[in-house]
Amino acid sequence: MLFKTATVVALAATASCATILSEKRNSGCPDDQEPTQVRLAYHGDRGMSVSWNTKSKLAKPSVEFGTTMELGGTVSSSESITYPTSSTYNNHVVITGLQPNTRYHYQPYCSQRIYSFTTAKSVGDGDDFKFAMVGDMGTMGPDGLSTTVGKGAANPLKPGEKNSIDSLHDQKTSFDFVWHVGDIAYADSWVKEETGGYVTPLNLNDKGAEYDKILNEFYDEIEPITRDVPYMVGPGNHEANCDNGANLTLCLPGQLNFTGYRAHWNMPSDVSGGVENFWYSWNHGMVHFITFNTETDFPNAPDEPGGEGAEFAGPFAPSGAQLAWLAKDLAAVDRKKTPWVIAAGHRPWYVSTTECKECQAAFEPLLLKYGVDLVLHGHKHFYERESAINNFTASEIEKNPSAPWYIVNGAAGHYDGLDTPTFPLVPTSRKLIVEYGWSLFTVHNCTHLTTEFIASGNGSVLDTATLYKARTCDVTKDHP
Ligand SMILES: *[C@@H]1O[C@H](CO)[C@@H](O)[C@H](O)[C@H]1NC(C)=O
Ligand SMILES: *[C@@H]1O[C@H](CO)[C@@H](O)[C@H](O)[C@H]1NC(C)=O
Ligand SMILES: *[C@@H]1O[C@H](CO)[C@@H](O)[C@H](O)[C@H]1NC(C)=O
Ligand SMILES: *[C@@H]1O[C@H](CO)[C@@H](O)[C@H](O)[C@H]1NC(C)=O
Ligand SMILES: *[C@@H]1O[C@H](CO)[C@@H](O)[C@H](O)[C@H]1NC(C)=O
Repeated sequence: MLFKTATVVALAATASCATILSEKRNSGCPDDQEPTQVRLAYHGDRGMSVSWNTKSKLAKPSVEFGTTMELGGTVSSSESITYPTSSTYNNHVVITGLQPNTRYHYQPYCSQRIYSFTTAKSVGDGDDFKFAMVGDMGTMGPDGLSTTVGKGAANPLKPGEKNSIDSLHDQKTSFDFVWHVGDIAYADSWVKEETGGYVTPLNLNDKGAEYDKILNEFYDEIEPITRDVPYMVGPGNHEANCDNGANLTLCLPGQLNFTGYRAHWNMPSDVSGGVENFWYSWNHGMVHFITFNTETDFPNAPDEPGGEGAEFAGPFAPSGAQLAWLAKDLAAVDRKKTPWVIAAGHRPWYVSTTECKECQAAFEPLLLKYGVDLVLHGHKHFYERESAINNFTASEIEKNPSAPWYIVNGAAGHYDGLDTPTFPLVPTSRKLIVEYGWSLFTVHNCTHLTTEFIASGNGSVLDTATLYKARTCDVTKDHP
């Protein structure tokens, strides 16, 4: 599935009032072309990927954009794709030729509304910024996490308690983008939800309807966030198939092998040498961000046939391609301009419960060799802040560590509740929180980076810690 091509077809010097444009356009717009689930992703500091879903295929998905509400630019593509069991089409358009760190207005074809986004800061931009990180976030409400659970599930929300989507939405003006490090929507919980008596009726032969319903609910629920701030994603095991590997005979064509995940997102792998939404990198100001894939495409990868999971997915590139890309990507970073390198992959290897040893063997040597500052994981449904770690040897983050600092946060919440760590905690552990929440990071400057754990229920900060790196950089602050 390739959906990366887009060309700017018109850049009118003047344009009529966007509101009138949109009224005119909408008067002729059939319901099945109405955009839903609008979502953004960075595409270099001069681009933005705009994706959305429609009930029918669009011949030519297009987006109008501009620095004012008059818009004036139009970009279109031919990427309107679906897959068996999906009730919607995924439309992808990439806007290019933009200015960095600049606010633009935009309007997908047939949209009733004009939205806006801000492009990424250029490499060498030394201004401080914040980003949100979330892991293992499922659909909220009657088909996912709510105030009740079925048999075999736990940790329902307390009455009136906010969920993580609400909490991220409340604070969306405080961060530049969200990074969701795998396990997105948990549509594959449908079997458990039905057999647990939570979703009725029990109908495991519904031709994929409940799976598709949960997936659409999730993308609808996150839209008030994703249409305003870029939402960067990585693959998790719950994207691999329709029933979490329990009984693949239930999964219909279209529900296996990361199909929905591949179709929904449009991460900037084309401009970073990566592969689809599986591995890629991007820059934002002082940081080089890397998403890597702990599910497939490295030796003994857990989701591949023969791996420890039963997901039977991948690979998505020739043997060795992911690790070769990671080494090349890391080697090319200019640490004077992007002093921080932050990498995220779904499965952790330093955590107080079962770890991914195969992931450690594959990725840790490269992360160490190239001096990655921070490694983020999800997968385990709690928050655990570790030390900086080199092969199980901990050093403290305030003291200019040479090894990467590790944080596990898969605590956003989904139907199945939270996980129980194994006690005693691993010796590298510094803080454990078993509550629903997400992480807010502040990149202050070249030497200091702070994390905060936000409890989704009430927005409280339950943990904060700052990494210090002794170094000098060649970055410029616009706002000293
Ligand atoms: C898997 O699902 C199929 C179809 O519903 C059923 O016939 C089979 O017994 C299930 N197998 C297991 C191991 O649950
Ligand atoms: C998954 O999809 C990829 C890309 O189409 C394909 O190469 C691979 O063989 C598939 N894996 C399985 C287990 O079907
Ligand atoms: C990690 O430490 C163990 C035990 O001290 C050692 O056997 C192993 O070779 C080390 N691994 C690396 C990659 O240095
Ligand atoms: C970097 O930011 C930290 C945290 O705000 C601050 O304490 C420190 O003084 C800053 N360093 C410089 C050189 O401005
Ligand atoms: C907010 O929620 C957390 C997690 O449930 C709890 O520990 C904390 O006491 C709450 N704080 C306030 C101010 O209610």
